[in-house]
Amino acid sequence: MAVISLKNVTYSYKGAAKPAVNSVSCSFEAGTLYAVVGPSGSGKSTLLALLAGLDLPDEGEVLFGGENIAALDLDLYRREYISMIFQAFRLFPLLTALENVCYPLELVGVKSAEAKRRARELLASVSITEEEMQRFPANLSGGQQQRVAIARALASGAKVILADEPTGNLDVENTQTVIDILASLADEQDYCVIVVTHDAEVADMTDVVYRMKDGVLTRER
Ligand SMILES: Nc1ncnc2c1ncn2[C@@H]1O[C@H](COP(=O)(O)OP(=O)(O)OP(=O)(O)O)[C@@H](O)[C@H]1O
Ligand SMILES: [Mg+2]
Repeated sequence: MAVISLKNVTYSYKGAAKPAVNSVSCSFEAGTLYAVVGPSGSGKSTLLALLAGLDLPDEGEVLFGGENIAALDLDLYRREYISMIFQAFRLFPLLTALENVCYPLELVGVKSAEAKRRARELLASVSITEEEMQRFPANLSGGQQQRVAIARALASGAKVILADEPTGNLDVENTQTVIDILASLADEQDYCVIVVTHDAEVADMTDVVYRMKDGVLTRER
């Protein structure tokens, strides 16, 4: 069954001449890594924002587990069911790598010592060393920062990961590492992972490819 789906979703920014997302219907399942490709301005990030409940559609519905998210507590939805990863990593600069991953755990009431233990485990799972965990984001490489961001996304417990150009600032080797991690989350841990990308080689490594053009989404593979 679909984890998350869109039914005839249309969304326009205020004052825009035409919709950024235009009557999009599609379903995303667990255990699958998706790519969304398409030109700049075609509506990819807007689509992710709608899936994340950051914006609500003007028309149509976003369904999570079959329920319209407009009827859910959206703060709870964003905190517990969806996690996001970005091109610019967006780690908290004044927190160490370890503290960045503890933060979402403590937010949901996990005690400090237990949060630290789980954060260490998650960081180790993306090959961040004990020494690197103590560093601030500015003192980590781009690839390391993105792996910390993935660990932080996993800490929330959400099984849907929305990633907007997660490899946009990475070289070929780090791109491969990040996609391998996301693919194994989908394959082995049943995550639903949706990756927006400009990189055809990244799209080639996913299970399903969607193309966005002028707000319209079509399945390519
Ligand atoms: N906050 C905003 N206010 C008004 N218009 C916006 C806003 N954000 C995006 N748009 C417009 O909506 C359309 C879709 O933008 P979106 O950011 O979803 O594209 P994108 O496919 O993610 O592009 P890129 O590949 O450059 O990131 C574009 O025409 C853009 O100019
Ligand atoms: Mg974008």
